[in-house]
Amino acid sequence: CGIVGYVGSDRSLEVLLGGLKRLEYRGYDSAGVAVIDARDGSLNVAKRAGKLGVLEDELQRHPIGNGATGIGHTRWATHGGPTDRNAHPHLGDDGRLAVIHNGIIENFAALRDELLAEGFAFTSETDTEVAAVLLGREYRATGDLVEAFRRVVSRLDGAFTLLAVHQEQPGVVVGARRNSPLVIGLGDGENFLGSDVAAFVEHTRRAVAIGQDQIVVITPDEVAVTDFDGAGVEVEPFEVAWDAAAAEKGGWPSFMAKEIAEEPDAVANTLRGRIQDGAAVIPELSDLDELLTGIDRITIIACGTASYAGQVGAYAIEKWARIPVEVELSHEFRYRDPVITPSTLVVSISQSGETMDTLMAVKYAKDAGAKTLSICNTQGATIPRESDGAVYTHAGPEVAVASTKAFVAQITALYLFGLHLARLRGTLTSAQQAANLDELADIPGKLERVLESSDSVAQLARWMSDTRAVLFLGRHVGFPIALEGALKLKELAYIHAEGFAAGELKHGPIALIEAGQPVFVVVPSPRGSDEMHKKVVSNIQEIRARGARVLAIAEEGDAAVLPFADEVVRIPLAAPLFEPLLAVIPLQVFAMELAAAKGLDVDQPRNLAKSVTVE
Ligand code: G6P
Repeated sequence: CGIVGYVGSDRSLEVLLGGLKRLEYRGYDSAGVAVIDARDGSLNVAKRAGKLGVLEDELQRHPIGNGATGIGHTRWATHGGPTDRNAHPHLGDDGRLAVIHNGIIENFAALRDELLAEGFAFTSETDTEVAAVLLGREYRATGDLVEAFRRVVSRLDGAFTLLAVHQEQPGVVVGARRNSPLVIGLGDGENFLGSDVAAFVEHTRRAVAIGQDQIVVITPDEVAVTDFDGAGVEVEPFEVAWDAAAAEKGGWPSFMAKEIAEEPDAVANTLRGRIQDGAAVIPELSDLDELLTGIDRITIIACGTASYAGQVGAYAIEKWARIPVEVELSHEFRYRDPVITPSTLVVSISQSGETMDTLMAVKYAKDAGAKTLSICNTQGATIPRESDGAVYTHAGPEVAVASTKAFVAQITALYLFGLHLARLRGTLTSAQQAANLDELADIPGKLERVLESSDSVAQLARWMSDTRAVLFLGRHVGFPIALEGALKLKELAYIHAEGFAAGELKHGPIALIEAGQPVFVVVPSPRGSDEMHKKVVSNIQEIRARGARVLAIAEEGDAAVLPFADEVVRIPLAAPLFEPLLAVIPLQVFAMELAAAKGLDVDQPRNLAKSVTVE
């Protein structure tokens, strides 16, 4: 997910590789460059699956020449696994132009069919190659790269940052953006493009942010920005405040901080292309209608944070699709001789797609005759490959060991899956489908609001940095959020933390409450079940009476908690099933800030690994 473009002097290869290096913090699984050779004007491409070092070795062995114009890319696979062939840049059908892309082109299948019908062929499985072939066709029709590019981007739906070069137009790079970032770097006799300023900050600190639905054309001496119709746009350069060192994490203090800030995008990108005419339609599952209508039971398996996403998802899937759903830890599932029949669907959830406990449980389920579906954030990973079907979360690469944006993307994918199932099984009216999808579509905007108000939580965490134990209470979908809040605090801040179902309090945990004991309470909306809300408020009173320090997470306007809570963290109104997506954010921020206040490494907590590939 890193993009660099350059025009200037004959050193584009160094600039591109240097820029890609600075964009490594964004995470990627393959890399490539395209350069117009100064000697013979040919367009040359090198690309490889793997880290930048693999590409650099390739360039050592097979140099591609250098020139004044080029584009470079690091890819995080979305359509098609991380292979050499699927790596960017992609060439047009005549090999004379190259394109790189970030994002998801939603209507790529329709465009691909159109081009196949005209006799064009494709060498990769990517949506990007469709844009490249389309650009070749339009270039031949117009003879003008900018006009051809404008025609192409006007036909694309979804999210994209797209850059292109054509060997007949050396000294020009064209770019466009929609729902995906692109920034110009202004140099002296040279200009740059980047997915963020880290791509060029070592060469220039003067930059211009490109707006939504705009096209940019850079040459060594000029930059021109227009809208998709070609009307000129005034640009306002700004001075980049960072130095090159801060650029390594894109200006964020940690990967985790960056990834929490990306949660609205993680949800939006996971929804993209999966809502059609008010119904959830997951295109990847289109061949599985028969399988999905034939199942009578779902078992969700996962580990760690992913298992809590599974617990949240189970409430929604069972409610909407009227099918029994159980959730189990992968390593427990395998060893208890579970009842599995051909009509059992085992849904695994794994950010990495490589967690050995989950992989082994999937294999076990398959051998026992179950159908298997993988919810995964990593294209081409082992677990989705081993499964009958896969639904990818499009959260983008997650680098920090403790999972954050993948968690909200997993819940989003499970909800989409629940609605997809409900549509197939006819268990919801179309009005109910549409209402739930409207709720989901509103989540990214509400997440932005939660993030904007997270300063008070950060403050609270700093005040509490000496705390030795924290308890978390929740009920219904708030229960797995309490468990996740506790897990985050253990993982990041090494503080003893426990999550409980609020109703279970009186059956034991209340004995832990003593004066000053901090307890987070995830308060359900009174609009969902008034009874449940009242019960949680009673729980708050019970622990308060025993001296607990109550930290309530409650929806805006819920006044019932005010008399009993020491602190109230507000989240925007959402239908009750959707609250977990909002309520988890303050708990993630709390754990991260408390760990940071203790001087701990929030990205790499002790003893933990991002992807545990041993059982
Ligand atoms: C490790 C990580 C957790 C993660 C779990 C599952 O234990 O430390 O943060 O939730 O693995 O990872 P997965 O890649 O399968 O989602």
